[in-house]
Parts: sequence; C-alpha cells; structure tokens
Amino acid sequence: MDLSSMRKRYRSDNESFEEKHLVSIDPIVQFNDWFQEVTQCPAIEEPNAMCLATATRDGRPSARMVLLKGFGPDGFRFYTNRESRKGLDLETNPVASLLFYWEPFNRQVRIEGSVERLSEDETEKYFHSRPKSSQIGAVVSKQSQVIPDREYLRQKNAELEAEYKDKEVPKPPEWGGYIVRPSVIEFWQGQTNRLHDRIVFHKQEADKELGPWTHPGEGGWVYKRLAP
Ligand SMILES: Cc1cc2nc3c(=O)[nH]c(=O)nc-3n(C[C@H](O)[C@H](O)[C@H](O)COP(=O)(O)O)c2cc1C
Repeated sequence: MDLSSMRKRYRSDNESFEEKHLVSIDPIVQFNDWFQEVTQCPAIEEPNAMCLATATRDGRPSARMVLLKGFGPDGFRFYTNRESRKGLDLETNPVASLLFYWEPFNRQVRIEGSVERLSEDETEKYFHSRPKSSQIGAVVSKQSQVIPDREYLRQKNAELEAEYKDKEVPKPPEWGGYIVRPSVIEFWQGQTNRLHDRIVFHKQEADKELGPWTHPGEGGWVYKRLAP
C-alpha cells in the first residue's frame, strides 16, 4: 500500500516552544507539566503508555509498549517480567530509550538512560497493589516464552484463580521493576509550519564547559535547540 500522501494537518498554533510550552528548564518539571496536561485529555486513554527500546549486548534492538508507573528526578519506573526479551536485554545491556507520543498535542518526548532494577521491596509493594486478576496474570504468563495455544493460558488462569481465591498471590520471582535514570530528555512540539520545536536536555558533566548555543538548566541539566 502506498502511503506517501498520508500526512496530518497540524493545528494552526504557531507560537514558539519557549513562549508557550517550555515551563521549566528542569526537564523533569517540564515532563511533569506535559504529563499533567495530557492526563486531562479524554482522547488519550493511556497517557502513561510508552515505547521502551532495548538492545542486546551486540546491538540488536527491539521495542515494545509498556506502562510508566512512576517518575521523578531519580528516573522513570516500569514493571515487567525479567525473563522476557526486554528483561534479558536489560540484564546484559542495562540501557534503554523511552518514547512518548501524545498525538492530540503533537508532542513527543524521548528519554535515554541507564537502567537499574528496583528493589524487591518496592516491587513487592507495587505487585500487591495491582488488581488480583493482574497479579494472577503475571503468574500465568511466562512472558515471551512459546506456549502451545490460548487454551493453555485460559486453563492455567482458571486453576490459579481457584488456588488463590482466598489467599494472597505470591509475586513470581522473575517479575519486577526497573528504573531508567535519564541522561538525555528531548521534548518535541509539532508546529503548523513544520518548523517543529526540539529542545534536548543533557545531564551536565562536572567541570565541562557549555558548548555553543547550550544553556544552563536546573537540576544538573543543560539544554539546547535542535533542528527539526
Ligand atoms: C499499551 C500497552 C501497555 C503494555 N504495558 C506493559 C507493561 O507495563 N509491562 C509489560 O511487561 N508488558 C506490557 N505490555 C506488553 C509488551 O508490549 C510486550 O508485549 C511484552 O512486555 C513482551 O515484550 P518482550 O518480549 O519484548 O519483552 C504492554 C503492551 C501495550 C500495547
């Protein structure tokens, strides 16, 4: 199918990013501002859905959606099965890239950083805060492993629902959380005239001079504008 003529008409607000959209020169505060705004938008049902890209140690990439479950100056949290493809990638190559695209706002955020496991304590707390059906789902699903058919899952789910009807579901040892500690965060704001705005923040290395057109930010960050 030829999709060469398929393109979106951008809304006609043409103000520059700094004037209208960049509320802070700390990217975590800026992310929070955008995140609060997009969570108010009924057209965005899962504002915390993000694409997580990982790679094997020899550089073979893969990407998939996961849900952001918390963020702050220390990083961006998500949960998964550590024996999944992404989990195995992260064990041997603990770096990742996160991507948000909030289409009604013409906004994209890209985050890159190193990845660490969350503590078992934090993971346990989050696991047991989930609905029981999700906890059972995590036990049923040996994520990313080959299974015979759908009936296999359905039957296992029914067995576990009966087994844990009146009991707490134990967290599977391989299920856990990760935190992406950001070193680069880029905000992209689409504009009508295709002169889209891109502001990229980097963690400032100690004692390093600011490069050309690079501005001091807050929270240990510097930022610059990139051509779209
Ligand atoms: C909107 C959306 C949200 C998802 N959230 C998660 C999540 O938070 N954790 C997770 O392990 N998988 C989540 N998944 C499933 C993953 O995309 C993926 O299928 C699974 O984690 C296995 O990926 P892997 O084999 O690359 O490790 C989500 C899928 C979608 C479409």
